[in-house]
Amino acid sequence: MEIEGSVVLVTGANRGIGRALVGEFLARGAARVHAAARNPAALGPVVAEDPSRVVPVEVDLTAPDTIAAAAEAASDVTLLVNNAATHAVGHLLEMDLALVEDVMRTNYLGTLRVLRAFAPVIERNGGGAVVNVISVGAFGGTPALGGYPASKAALHSMTQAVRQDLAPRGISVHGVFPGPVDTDMLAYVLEHEPQFGEVPLATTAEVARATVDGLAADAEDIFPDSFAVGVGELWSRDPKAVERWLTEFG
Ligand SMILES: NC(=O)c1ccc[n+]([C@@H]2O[C@H](COP(=O)([O-])OP(=O)(O)OC[C@H]3O[C@@H](n4cnc5c(N)ncnc54)[C@H](OP(=O)(O)O)[C@@H]3O)[C@@H](O)[C@H]2O)c1
Repeated sequence: MEIEGSVVLVTGANRGIGRALVGEFLARGAARVHAAARNPAALGPVVAEDPSRVVPVEVDLTAPDTIAAAAEAASDVTLLVNNAATHAVGHLLEMDLALVEDVMRTNYLGTLRVLRAFAPVIERNGGGAVVNVISVGAFGGTPALGGYPASKAALHSMTQAVRQDLAPRGISVHGVFPGPVDTDMLAYVLEHEPQFGEVPLATTAEVARATVDGLAADAEDIFPDSFAVGVGELWSRDPKAVERWLTEFG
């Protein structure tokens, strides 16, 4: 995937990894970056990074009308980055089922909706790529994180399935599997489950850089930080050991 000159849309671009990805795509010569957020008013500082190339757009993963409108407005996209996600803590057998439904509705069904809206856009523009920000959590159901790992495992499975469907349409599909990253999402998890702080946290800049490097190198599975690289290496030779590692975490 040629990054220079590409037209990117990043969901959840107002903070965390999404915001760092916007900066990284700008630095690597993207022609335009559509910065998507469910509250576009939160995008002021992101647009200010380069007002001539950053375009704010509303995308709420749980509001199909915003996704359809974004696909109309951002009709020049060649590279879609599905970054936005929500999280939940709690054990699946006891926690409020509404939280489990919310995380699955957002992270799995919402991401699928965005992909379904933008695949024809990318195809009309001559092909390109889709990047799904998943998580190493997709490889093991960490008990204390409720439905979050399940939503990411579902997204991983969806990534594999659509990779086959989109290849003949000139669209490559890439999965990104970060380990723990220093963002608001992780801060929330640490408040409830401090044991996740026992591993070093990656920075958003490091994850964004490695993600775009992986994409430029056409890697299908991208492990963008040192914890993730460790999980990825173990997963390739002993997936059951990764399951044990991640399930014993909390
Ligand atoms: N941080 C980690 O340790 C870690 C590890 C592995 C994978 N990841 C993944 O990396 C991605 C980015 O996470 P992050 O750590 O940067 O999290 P973050 O700082 O909590 O940011 C999450 C982003 O997703 C947006 N979002 C949440 N629900 C949404 C919805 N319904 N519609 C549209 N946008 C929504 C948030 O928007 P608002 O500001 O409006 O809430 C925010 O922009 C996620 O896919 C996450 O699962 C993170």
